[in-house]
Amino acid sequence: MTDVAKYGPWAVILGGSEGVGASFAHQLAGDGFNLVLVARRPEPLEETAAQLRKLGAQVRTHSLDLMRAESVQTLIGATADLEVGLLICNAGANSYGKPFLDGDLAGFQGVIDLNVTTPLALAQHYGRGMRDRGRGGILFVGSLAGYLGSARESVYGAAKAFGRIFAEGLWLELRDHGVDVLELVLGVTRTPAMERAGLDFDIPGLTVGEPADVAREGLAHLSDGPVWVVAGNEKVVEIRSRTDRATLAVGAHEALKRLMPE
Ligand SMILES: NC(=O)c1ccc[n+]([C@@H]2O[C@H](COP(=O)([O-])OP(=O)(O)OC[C@H]3O[C@@H](n4cnc5c(N)ncnc54)[C@H](OP(=O)(O)O)[C@@H]3O)[C@@H](O)[C@H]2O)c1
Repeated sequence: MTDVAKYGPWAVILGGSEGVGASFAHQLAGDGFNLVLVARRPEPLEETAAQLRKLGAQVRTHSLDLMRAESVQTLIGATADLEVGLLICNAGANSYGKPFLDGDLAGFQGVIDLNVTTPLALAQHYGRGMRDRGRGGILFVGSLAGYLGSARESVYGAAKAFGRIFAEGLWLELRDHGVDVLELVLGVTRTPAMERAGLDFDIPGLTVGEPADVAREGLAHLSDGPVWVVAGNEKVVEIRSRTDRATLAVGAHEALKRLMPE
């Protein structure tokens, strides 16, 4: 159960319309939170919001592309009247999976903006209010990709590595102010986005997380920052942190080719 007195009354979930983001929302609504959900497509947003309202939550939805700088100001303006005690930066993706030399810089910049620039801006905005009140939480959804470089994911992996290191620093800065910061590191998770991308979840030995389990684990460990690795992925993190980077990168590259069709 997530303590609404410490982290409420409003939670903002970036990427709150489906999968892991919607699971966070459902669990928080069940614990008495009100929700602000942000995603691009209005239909899944409204569908999730309707379910949450049935649980008694007040819900606001904002159909925004979080790759766009103006979305930050729009969201800040639209939530100015709310006491936001919890920010969940879940929206993230390798939105431009090209080999680096063959792609446009603008495409790669979009990956950075979605996974880094926007979460930073909103963590600063909502974090200031939390620090003033002496309570709250900021959860960043990270990835095993942030522990090792991968072809076609060089920018995405680097962005996720940035997020983890940033979370550690912010955790240090806020831990004496009553504000929890957590980087929740996901392994492969059966989300609609990954299903649409055609991931092969049936590879023998692959650990596959379910959105509701992953969200539950993250919320349960909000105060166990700065980094929490979702159960079953600890060994991969340990291996990817070793020093023989070339062997590791080539091995993970082969594994990724089996997991993700080009
Ligand atoms: N699934 C995995 O295997 C996996 C593994 C490691 C890490 N992760 C991380 O986990 C998080 C969630 O991943 P997921 O996509 O699989 O799960 P998800 O939680 O099922 O869905 C992503 C959510 O983000 C929204 N979103 C995506 N791009 C957006 C944009 N540009 N602007 C606004 N909203 C956006 C989506 O709605 P719209 O599409 O309608 O915008 C959706 O609500 C990400 O940070 C990802 O990097 C996932």
